[in-house]
Amino acid sequence: MSEKRDWAQLERWDRNYYLHSTQAAAEHVFTAVDSMEGNYFTLSDGTRLLDFQSQLISDSMGHRHPAIHGELKRAMERYGHVLFGLANEYRARAAKLIVEDVLGPNSWAGRVRVFASGTDAVECAVNMARLYTRRTVILTQAHSFHGMVMGSTMMRGYRNNLTPPGDLNAVQDVPGFPPHGYIPIPPPEPEDYQANGPLPSIVATEQILRALGPENVAGVITEPMLGGGGTFPHKDYMPALVGLARKYGILWIDDEVITGFGRLGEWFGYQHWPGIAPDILAGGKGANSCALPVGVVVASKPISEHFERARWWSGSTWDGHPLVCATIVGNLEYMLANNMIQQVRQKSAYLRERLDTLKPKHPSIGRISGRGLFQVIDLVNREGKPIIPEDRFSAFTGDLSEHPNVIVYKETGKRGVFLGGFTPNTLKLGPPFTVSQDDIDLAVDALDAALDVVDAKYHGRGKPN
Ligand SMILES: Cc1ncc(COP(=O)(O)O)c(C=O)c1O
Repeated sequence: MSEKRDWAQLERWDRNYYLHSTQAAAEHVFTAVDSMEGNYFTLSDGTRLLDFQSQLISDSMGHRHPAIHGELKRAMERYGHVLFGLANEYRARAAKLIVEDVLGPNSWAGRVRVFASGTDAVECAVNMARLYTRRTVILTQAHSFHGMVMGSTMMRGYRNNLTPPGDLNAVQDVPGFPPHGYIPIPPPEPEDYQANGPLPSIVATEQILRALGPENVAGVITEPMLGGGGTFPHKDYMPALVGLARKYGILWIDDEVITGFGRLGEWFGYQHWPGIAPDILAGGKGANSCALPVGVVVASKPISEHFERARWWSGSTWDGHPLVCATIVGNLEYMLANNMIQQVRQKSAYLRERLDTLKPKHPSIGRISGRGLFQVIDLVNREGKPIIPEDRFSAFTGDLSEHPNVIVYKETGKRGVFLGGFTPNTLKLGPPFTVSQDDIDLAVDALDAALDVVDAKYHGRGKPN
């Protein structure tokens, strides 16, 4: 049942009082969501959009999934907030589901803690690595993203926190950047990189590690597939990087906030490389499909036991919140019972097949890569180079409407599909796991038409619609 809302009033309040991100007030486009259902959402003007990026590659089971919301409603009959010193039913069930049912009782995983965001999970993982090793330095990949508070902001692998008022070409980092204690390492080579011996990124990472002295390095944090950056790494990268961590006795922190809980067609991205396992894993988003704010940390058995034997003063008001844990329970029980990982694989095969048919038609498509329901398309100019030259080092300055991802966002939007990207030349396709074949067809057809516009602009082919 739709109620009438005064969207003009709501727009005034939002414009006047909300502290917005990414757009300056003068360029702000007010786009409001009125309601969400399944794989679709409806805007305040009545436009219905297929959510082909699951909001922030986050709402894995679509919007308001009955299994998740049903469990949440049941939990709300009994629980509000419970402090971390007391247990609650859903905390115990969520922990058992993650450690025993998803990762397996004989796996590397020891214990889990539940938080209010992926950022919290990353921060906790880094604190644990530092406390456990009693060392400071964290190596972190260029082009990576790890969250929004100071520590994780310092870890992210691209620049510019603020394009300041009055100068859309200026770059302002948070003072203190480049940061003490967080050392950048090169990004991974992409999947189609023609390797001729050891990967240059790994050679450089080893040099950095040796120059710092491994005895000063607590760990290295990586994304198994760069989420914001949209790079699926070359097949040799992750095993070689983890090999370095093992060789030099530093911890491997696996940031799976965007890739975890099925997104890449495995429960976790690292499982694409047999024989490697993290020391500490940070997760979030897909743990409960973002029905409520969520983050999780999973620590290996030895690290878990180290902290469990200690007195670790580390509670947050939100640790193990029963309602958040109830949404994890609802999500994971449904995913396990309905073999969602298999479904992701099948749907991703169809999506990839359809995307591959676009490649010969569109000269702007340079590379298609990814796994599961996280496929990325890199767009190129006539020379086969990134259209926006800074590419993944972009500081998001100047006229963003020239960015191919923005063009695609606008064009697919006209055709009922929400799809774009973050890095200027890279499109991210990350639909909910509940996406249907018809939904995939709708999205790929919309993308096909949007790429005609990019081809026309950057390859001089055809006419923009
Ligand atoms: C890889 C990665 N780490 C950490 C975060 C931060 O998570 P949150 O936004 O839940 O704080 C994100 C968010 O997109 C992410 O993609």
